[in-house]
Amino acid sequence: MSNSLEYLEGVARHYAIQAVRHDREGNFGEAIKNYRNAVKILKKIIQLYPDNGLVAVYKEWIKHYEKRIADLENLRNSMLPVHGESTTEASIDDLVVKEKPEVTFNDIADLEQAKEAIKEAILYPTRRPDLFPLGWPRGILLFGPPGCGKTLLAAAVANEIDSVFIQVDAASIMSKWLGEAEKKVALIFKKAREYSSSGKPVIIFIDEVDSLLGTYASEIGGEVRVRNQFLKEMDGLPDKSKKHFIYVIAATNKPWKLDEPFIRRFQKRIYVPLPDKKARIQLLELYTKKLRLSPDLDLSKLAEVLEGYTGSDIKDIVMAAHLRTVKELFEKNRGVGEARAITWDDFMHVLKVRKPSVSEDLVRVYDSWYSKFKAI
Ligand SMILES: Nc1ncnc2c1ncn2[C@@H]1O[C@H](COP(=O)(O)OP(=O)(O)O)[C@@H](O)[C@H]1O
Ligand SMILES: [Mg+2]
Repeated sequence: MSNSLEYLEGVARHYAIQAVRHDREGNFGEAIKNYRNAVKILKKIIQLYPDNGLVAVYKEWIKHYEKRIADLENLRNSMLPVHGESTTEASIDDLVVKEKPEVTFNDIADLEQAKEAIKEAILYPTRRPDLFPLGWPRGILLFGPPGCGKTLLAAAVANEIDSVFIQVDAASIMSKWLGEAEKKVALIFKKAREYSSSGKPVIIFIDEVDSLLGTYASEIGGEVRVRNQFLKEMDGLPDKSKKHFIYVIAATNKPWKLDEPFIRRFQKRIYVPLPDKKARIQLLELYTKKLRLSPDLDLSKLAEVLEGYTGSDIKDIVMAAHLRTVKELFEKNRGVGEARAITWDDFMHVLKVRKPSVSEDLVRVYDSWYSKFKAI
């Protein structure tokens, strides 16, 4: 990372800290000025370093600072007193998935080992804590290349295990006002403890958990405190005197961004890899279930050709192949009647322009990370 990036981040941090201080003290004018400067610098950083891993987080910050600027301007105009706190318990309640996601383990091709591992890790200790005199893992880390089912898996857990499911978007935690992110983390765990008094396990799911940590050099406003708060809360979980069944499932495409203390808190680490041939066949079956296929289309042969593609790629490819038949129906028949069956040729046409979204080199990086931190 270059020096000038660090310099710019330092400047943005300075403005953001000033903005929040003035905001808290009710100096709207100064707060607005400093938020504007922070936004300006963050935009500059995004423009100059579009590949920086924190771009998404910075964009969120910009959005929130801009909203705060607008709110403050309104406040100033109406001369109402400022309300300092924006993190409320109600907003944490919004994170709890009340409408359970539709997806179940049956909608997920393969990943049998991961499904079993998650189930056992949560169900056994919850049912028979007496069988675990030494305690049990509270943290489950799902990692692997993008598009292979991590988010899907966690969503299905909400359905498969009778539990309270708290879904946390790491980027949105980080995007709150300075100093609020760590409060929000504390509040999430406090809520989890409240919910767990019902006797049901409580699952806190943090997707894209790497963005919670950021990188030390590029933290704005001391976001390292968020990480520390998080580690502290994780350490508080095995408090056996209180019968809390709280589990944290975290998912990441970039496990190497996590540091060792963080990884250590996740005693169960589950690799969600690229689909093997058996899984690719299952994916094809799953996604062609409702489509008409040419009888001579051999899914097993197709699965072989699809080596290296992710689950998400395969879904896209099936959709694109199907779309060819729909398009034809519109071109030849104005969309009247039924589309013809999908053929091998349709898939080959699609594959000509679609390469696997994950490179072999990247897969090797996951493999080597896994061999270093293996734990299931
Ligand atoms: N094993 C799988 N079974 C079924 N669909 C999958 C699978 N893996 C990926 N997909 C498809 O790809 C999409 C993206 O998967 P997702 O779980 O978001 O990946 P990740 O979180 O690992 O990046 C899913 O919504 C689903 O449509
Ligand atoms: Mg995901």
